[in-house]
Amino acid sequence: MGAQTVGHNHEKDKRLIDRENQYFATAGRINYYDLVIDSAHGAILKDVDGNEYIDLLASASATNVGHTNDLVVKAIQDQAEKLIHYTPAYFHHVPEQELAEKLAKVAPGSTPKKVAFGNSGSESNDAIIKFSRAYTGRQYIVSYMNSYHGSTYGSMALSGVSLNMTRKMGPLMPGVVHVPYPDLYRREAGESEHDVAVRFFEAFKQPFESFLPADEVACVLIEPIQGDGGLVKAPEEYMQLVYNFCHEHGILFAVDEINQGMGRTGHMWGIQNYHDIEPDLMSVGKSLASGMPLSAVIGKADIMESLAAPAHVFTTSGNPVCCAAALATLDALEKDDLIEKSKVDGEYAKQRFEDMKEHHENVGDVRMFGLNGGIELVTDKISKKADPDFATKVISYAFEHGVVMITLRGNILRFQPPLVITRQELDQALDVLDEAFTAVENGEVSLPDTDTKIGW
Ligand SMILES: Cc1ncc(COP(=O)(O)O)c(C=O)c1O
Repeated sequence: MGAQTVGHNHEKDKRLIDRENQYFATAGRINYYDLVIDSAHGAILKDVDGNEYIDLLASASATNVGHTNDLVVKAIQDQAEKLIHYTPAYFHHVPEQELAEKLAKVAPGSTPKKVAFGNSGSESNDAIIKFSRAYTGRQYIVSYMNSYHGSTYGSMALSGVSLNMTRKMGPLMPGVVHVPYPDLYRREAGESEHDVAVRFFEAFKQPFESFLPADEVACVLIEPIQGDGGLVKAPEEYMQLVYNFCHEHGILFAVDEINQGMGRTGHMWGIQNYHDIEPDLMSVGKSLASGMPLSAVIGKADIMESLAAPAHVFTTSGNPVCCAAALATLDALEKDDLIEKSKVDGEYAKQRFEDMKEHHENVGDVRMFGLNGGIELVTDKISKKADPDFATKVISYAFEHGVVMITLRGNILRFQPPLVITRQELDQALDVLDEAFTAVENGEVSLPDTDTKIGW
């Protein structure tokens, strides 16, 4: 398949969505555009009207090895014929055993690890709260502003990216303190990367100096690269300062790899974009089983032994079909050398976006880490004022020209294609985005009246 462009008919898409709107609760979907996906392969989506699109979202980084990857499909089919489910809460099955061992071995660092499964990324972040509190006997957790950790009460309390994740639902889980995540784009005049790292580390320490006793903090949870916060990477020096601070104070260092793990950044794990860091706990989900509902928390063995059953049991977690899909996903990453491909193609895409930045005043910042990036759109390069209207028009144009992409925080383009995207598909998608910038600059794109509430 190759994506087709322009003149899409969305008749069936719209009809089905109108009907669904009577039944599907608003809280469960962030509104973008009328797309009812019927099938997908590799990096190409097909909707119910037969339109084809290049996918620059990969189901929110959940299909890194590509849609309907042959290995994954085969593994799911074979396993479904043998055993669809038996809960690991009471007995054992081989896919769960093999996957636990693989994940324990593939996690960064040499300390022996153990694994606990969940159904969603959110649940594995809840696990980080449970295990870190149990192991340390401490109650507080430090997490970050603009982080997204999930939608359960625990993971929502850890998050800090949307008022709609707290509004009308409080009180949330107590004991979480949010600190600011370093932002290299909007640095102060004359600041070097080192200055930014130091300034944000000072801000990190402030709570510890005024209201947060370090010896009552169980863990710091950080996204190595913030995903929904806009694809923002902390400076290496900052990460090392926080890591060392944790060690000095007996605080566990935990990373959320749900968005940035599984080869997305050109490394197996997002934290491997930094040097010599071995997390005490890490949460994995999304692409782990190519979008099948499976997550895991992987932690140092003694930490993972700090709770007794049934402290972290879910009837359907560690499902054999999902575990088989995960084992096949890990094989596919390796077989097709997708981690290296993410690095190489990411570098290529970065260059192309940098060229666009040269030619388009509204492209303010290009942040690319593997085939994984945030393109920040602003009113002008001097003020760096966010321009959500521009960004919404760009993704609207892209959609009408066969490219599926969403925004983050209103004005940041989220670039996360399946890692199997071909160079030709990548070029085609990048050409469309370049054209979109020009068309929006020239005032040629307007949003339909119905599209007033697009995005986060
Ligand atoms: C960094 C990060 N953590 C956690 C989650 C939550 O995962 P899930 O939606 O599978 O519960 C997400 C989902 O977007 C995420 O990006």
